[in-house]
Formats: sequence, structure tokens, C-alpha cells
Amino acid sequence: MKKNIVLVLDFGGQYNQLIVRRIRDMGVYSELIPYSASVEKIRSYAPSGIILTGGPNSVFSADSLIMDPEILNLGIPVLGICYGAQLIAHLKGGIVKSAATKEYGKCTMRSVPSLLFKGIPESSTVWMSHTDYVETPPAGCKVIATTDTCPVAAFEDESGPAYGVQFHPEVVHTEYGNQILRNFLYEICRAEGDWTMKNFIGDMVDKIRKKVGGRKVLLAMSGGVDSAVAATLMHRAIGKNLVCVLVDHGLMRKGEVEEVVKVFRDGLGMNLEAIDASDRFLSRLDGVSDPEEKRKIIGSEFIRVFEDFGKKLGKVDFLAQGTIYPDVIESGFGKAALIKSHHNVGGLPSVIDFDEIIEPLRDLFKDEVRKVGSELGLDKKIVMRQPFPGPGLAVRVIGAITRKKLDILREADAVLREEIAANGLDGEIWQYFAVLTDMRSVGVMGDMRTYDYTVAIRAVTSVDAMSADWARIPYEVLAKISSRIVNEVAGVNRVVYDITSKPPATIEWE
Ligand code: XMP
Repeated sequence: MKKNIVLVLDFGGQYNQLIVRRIRDMGVYSELIPYSASVEKIRSYAPSGIILTGGPNSVFSADSLIMDPEILNLGIPVLGICYGAQLIAHLKGGIVKSAATKEYGKCTMRSVPSLLFKGIPESSTVWMSHTDYVETPPAGCKVIATTDTCPVAAFEDESGPAYGVQFHPEVVHTEYGNQILRNFLYEICRAEGDWTMKNFIGDMVDKIRKKVGGRKVLLAMSGGVDSAVAATLMHRAIGKNLVCVLVDHGLMRKGEVEEVVKVFRDGLGMNLEAIDASDRFLSRLDGVSDPEEKRKIIGSEFIRVFEDFGKKLGKVDFLAQGTIYPDVIESGFGKAALIKSHHNVGGLPSVIDFDEIIEPLRDLFKDEVRKVGSELGLDKKIVMRQPFPGPGLAVRVIGAITRKKLDILREADAVLREEIAANGLDGEIWQYFAVLTDMRSVGVMGDMRTYDYTVAIRAVTSVDAMSADWARIPYEVLAKISSRIVNEVAGVNRVVYDITSKPPATIEWE
């Protein structure tokens, strides 16, 4: 399946995943691997090309990240971006210098003809973000672009072949960035554009069938996109030998469990069991108001429910999971500070008796997962579903959770969802939901004094949930949402709109 691959060596730059995504969008399969991968490892992929990413390092520092220089002698085309370009220059005997100040932002590049710049005007805008720069390229290399501040904005070594660009072709601010990457893939590496989701599905279905034979696979569905697409793909491959289980923790949105059952069991004919465990979860959450404690309780109760289910089910041959590529990269490289204990159904492997794990989506980015879902015929409502936290509405009812508060929140949230959809805003907003604050305030309804809850509306735009901005929902839409919630949801007499970005706030309130 992965004959045609371009490897991206990770030197820790912030745009690294973006490079891989861009390449795949251009039809070539790509993977991010650690910069320290051995030459043998790289050879084993038989890549059509190699990209060295940017990164926060300097080639001068004692702990600089340096790949095996032999990689430059494999006869495989190499493109170094930013730090990657400096590294090629440094390893091949060029001169890298450190500037007094960081160069950051757009600038104008002047280029000379090169395969890398095929179809690009002589002068174009590029995006820079660096302090070190290549002052003199290695012997035998040609300078193919300059800017006012960079004597070597790009160089080429036709013999390698190796190319270095000081700017970032993967970010949208580089005017012809996509063309440059495309030139590298198709003109220099001569890669074939065979990476499509249709091919992926065909190959994966064959692979699953071969691996599973007539045996049984268990998959836990959460209602989210990843597990839904993983289930549909597995079901396409092995039909009734896939057993799906959905744990209803009583913290889902209005109508969510029913919808999953309707689509997957009634519609697609999947072997799906929905376990109503809401009493178990809600009784353990009774009186708990600390956000971390809520998350921990829900995580551990999930495991217990699965443990019980596993005992009932007995041994299964395979456990399938909806792990996707960013999960794989993030757990393998780098560590982020713990802001919230995230979890979905990650603890499952420890309590289910199984032989092997199958992760059919582990090579795919989220947008690719969505494309696979559409290609498999899943409704847009499912494949474009907004992210929903594993602990569900528990982290959207601030303070102690009660069934009554959950019901109020579900109704308010349903109104919000209806209005966002009715106004055609669901495609633009990354995530939107209601939060039931723990605050009550005085209001007046009819001629009566009320003392009811305040609902907060959270709606954000984002690319990857790492950072987010509050969505500029038109005032009229906000007005309609507010008046409908206050009028239709008993127990609420005030609606506020959260206008905080992330950081400093997080998307969820808990
Ligand atoms: P925060 O609140 O940290 O959320 O800005 C970032 C994104 O992650 C989602 N989220 C979770 N997703 N399990 C999940 O699968 C969790 O425990 C969890 N907590 C937050 C959140 O909805 C947002 O999209």
C-alpha cells in the first residue's frame, strides 16, 4: 500500500504535521518520523523523497539535532526546510551564521530557474521564521533564491539531489508554497500521486479481511467521528464479525445515543450493543464538583463498565480502536503539559481479554478520516460532527452534577445546535456548545421574579483545537438563541456569550 512514500524527518518545528498533510493532499503518502531514524530504517521505507523539517535548534548548539549525514548520500532527493536547509548546508561544508535578530514574517524572494521553482514567477512572497541563516552554500551547490536579508533563501545541489529553502513553503503565507512542494514531489522525486481515500479503503478492507479471517473483533464506539468511521470500515470488511459496543454514561447530548443506534444498528445493520450505564456514572459523580475529579471518575468508571462487559463477552480475537495519526505522533514524540486529563476509551486494552489490536485509521489525519467516512457513505452529519469530550456534559455542567442540571443543559444545547444549523453556521464554527454555569441570578418573567441558572454559549473557530478564537456569530443569531433558550428551557433566565480565546482560556470550561 505504501510503496510511494515521502518521509518527513521531524526536527521539532511547529509546522511539521502540516508538511505531511500538504504532501498527502497532493496525492503522495507521507509520514513523520523522528530525525534520529537510522539509515537502514529510512532505506526500509524505500522513500521517493525525504524532507527535513524546521525546528527550534541551531546547528551550532552542543545539543543540536543532527540526522545521520549518510542520509544525504542515498541518492534519494532531499528537501531541507528552514533548520533542515541549514543542516544540509552545515553537513555538506557550507557556512551557517546566526543573525542578531530573528527574521519573522513575509518577505519577497527573487529566484532563478530551477526545477524546484518551476512555474513560479521570479519574484514572490515567502514566509520566514528564523535566526540562523545559510551564508555560503556548500561547494557544488547553486544559490537559487535570495531576499533582501537572506543571501541564500534557497539552494540546490543537483547531484544529491538536495534542496534547501530558508522559508516555509508549507504555510499559506508563502504565495507559491504548494507549487514548490508539488515540484519537489512530482518534478524532483518523480513520485506517483496514488494516495486517495478510495485506494486507502480498498487496501485496508483487503488487509483487515486477510488479518481477521472469520474471527471476532470488538470495537467501542463513542459517537465521535473516529470510532464511527473505524466501525464502518471494519464493518465493510468483516460484517457481522464486528461487535460494537456503545457505553451511554448519561452525559451525552440530546438524542445522541438514539442517533448512533439508528444509523449504525438500524441503518447499516451493525452488531451494536448500547449499554445504559448512566446510573453507575451519575451515582459516582453525585456531589462531585472538582473538574479533574470528575474526569478521573468517568475514566475509571468506563474501565469498570468494560471490565464487566468483557467478562460477559469472554475472550475476543481482536480489539479495534479508532486511533488516528495525530494520536500516534503525539504519543510517540514530544510531551505536552497536563492541562486536563483527556481520555476516551483508552484504558480498554487493560480489561478486555484479546489477542491483537487493530487500528485501521492510525495512518490518517482527521480530514482524511472524514473523507473515508464520506467515501463509505456516512452522512455529513456524522463525518462533520464537532469534537465532543470523552467526559461529555460532565465538564459542561460547572460545579456539582445532577440529573436536573444535565437535563437543562441538554435542552439549551439542543436549541443552540438547531439555531446554528438553521443559520448555516455549522460549517464555519469549529465547536459550539452550551455550558450550564453554577450561577443563578434574578430575572423577571411575566410579572414574576425568577431566580434561575445562567447558560453560557461557547463557540470557537480553530484549526486543531490547540488554539482557538471565539466565533463572531451575528448578533441576530445570538439574540434568537438567547430568547429561545430563556423561553423554552425551564430553569434558565439568563444567557451569556463567552468571548475568550484559547489561550488563555480553554475551549471547554472544565
Ligand atoms: P480544551 O478544553 O482543552 O479542549 O481547550 C480542546 C479540545 O479537546 C476536547 N476535549 C476532549 N476530547 N477527551 C476528548 O476526546 C477529553 O477528555 C476532552 N476534553 C476536552 C474539547 O472539546 C476541544 O475540542
